[in-house]
Amino acid sequence: MGSVSLSAGQRPDAHPDVLSPVFWRDGKVVLLDQRRLPDQEIWTAYDNWEDVARAISEMEVRGAPAIGCAAAFAAALAWRAQASATVLRAALRAIGATRPTAVNLGSALHRIANAVASERDPLAEANAIWAEDLAACRAIGAHGAALVPDDAVILTHCNAGALATAGYGTALGVVRAAVTAGKRVRVIADETRPFLQGARLTAWELSQEGIACEVIVDSAAAHFLSRGEIHLAVVGADRITRNGDVANKIGTAGVAAACQTFGVPFYVAAPRTTLDPAMESGARIPIEERATDEVAIVGRRVVPEGVKVRNPVFDVTPARLVAAIVTEDGIHRAPYAFSTARRNA
Ligand code: MRU
Repeated sequence: MGSVSLSAGQRPDAHPDVLSPVFWRDGKVVLLDQRRLPDQEIWTAYDNWEDVARAISEMEVRGAPAIGCAAAFAAALAWRAQASATVLRAALRAIGATRPTAVNLGSALHRIANAVASERDPLAEANAIWAEDLAACRAIGAHGAALVPDDAVILTHCNAGALATAGYGTALGVVRAAVTAGKRVRVIADETRPFLQGARLTAWELSQEGIACEVIVDSAAAHFLSRGEIHLAVVGADRITRNGDVANKIGTAGVAAACQTFGVPFYVAAPRTTLDPAMESGARIPIEERATDEVAIVGRRVVPEGVKVRNPVFDVTPARLVAAIVTEDGIHRAPYAFSTARRNA
C-alpha cells in the first residue's frame, strides 16, 4: 500500500481526460482524499478491502456514485485476497454498513455478489460499474443542459460533481455540459455545513476548470432566491424512491422549499443507480447520523460542553418540490413511477 502526495498536473489518473476520485490501477484502488481538499491533493492506493471500507466511512471518498464504485472495488479486493464465499459475505456486510443512505453502495455490492455467484470476474464487474457511472454522468449532463438558459445563475448544494462520481458529475455534469454547449453560467455553491462539500469541493472542482463560482453560507440561499438572483437549482441525490422523493445532503429540502416559495425550478440530477424503486416513498429512507463533533467543533469547540448536538447528514425532499429529475434516460417529471425495469435497463 502506498500514499503519495502530488501536485496538480501529476495526478495518478488512469483516465487523464477526466478527474476521477476513485479508480482501479495496478491491483489497487486509488482514492483522492476529499477530507484534505482544497489544501492538499493526496492520492492513496489501497490493496485491502478493510482500508477502503474505512475510507468510505471516514469520507475520504464520498458522494453516492463514488462510494458505489469504491465499494465495488473493495469487494473485488476481498475476493482477490481470498476467493471464499464466506470471506466475501463478511466483507460485503462490513462494506455495506459503512454508509446507509446512498442506495448506490448496496446495489454495487449486490452486482459484485451476483458476478461471483455466476462465476464472472468481480473486478471486471467493478470496472463496469465505474465505466457505466461515467457514461451515465455524461448523458445526464447532455439532457440536463437543455434546462439551463444562457446567462444562468445556478444554485447547488453539497458536491455532486466529478468528485462524487466516477467522473464528470451529476449536478455539476449539467453545469459542465451547459458550459460546453456555449452557455454562460455562474454557480452559487452553498457551503454545506458541516463537512463543507460546497465550500471545499464544489468550489475547488469548478475553479480547476475556470467555471465561475461563488460560495455562500447555507442560510443565504433564500436571500438570493428572493431577489431573483438565481435562475435554477440543481442538486444530486443519494436515493430516489418510486414516487420521486429525494434523499440528499442535509439542507437540500430547505433549498427546495425556498425555491418553491420564490418560483425557482429545483432540479435533481442522478444516475439510474440512485433510484430505489423498491422503496415506495422517502419516509423509510435510512438517514445517516454522524459524529456530533463534526458540528460542535469548528477549528475549536463552538457548542458548550454538555449541550446535546444532532448531526443527521441527509434529508428527504418531497417529490412535489422537484420540478424534474434528470437521469441518463432523459428528463422525468411528476408523476414519477420509477420501476425496477428502468433501473436495471
Ligand atoms: O455525505 P456525502 O458527501 O457523501 O453526501 C453527498 C451528497 O449528498 C451528494 O449530493 C449525493 O451523493 C450525490 S453525488 C453525485
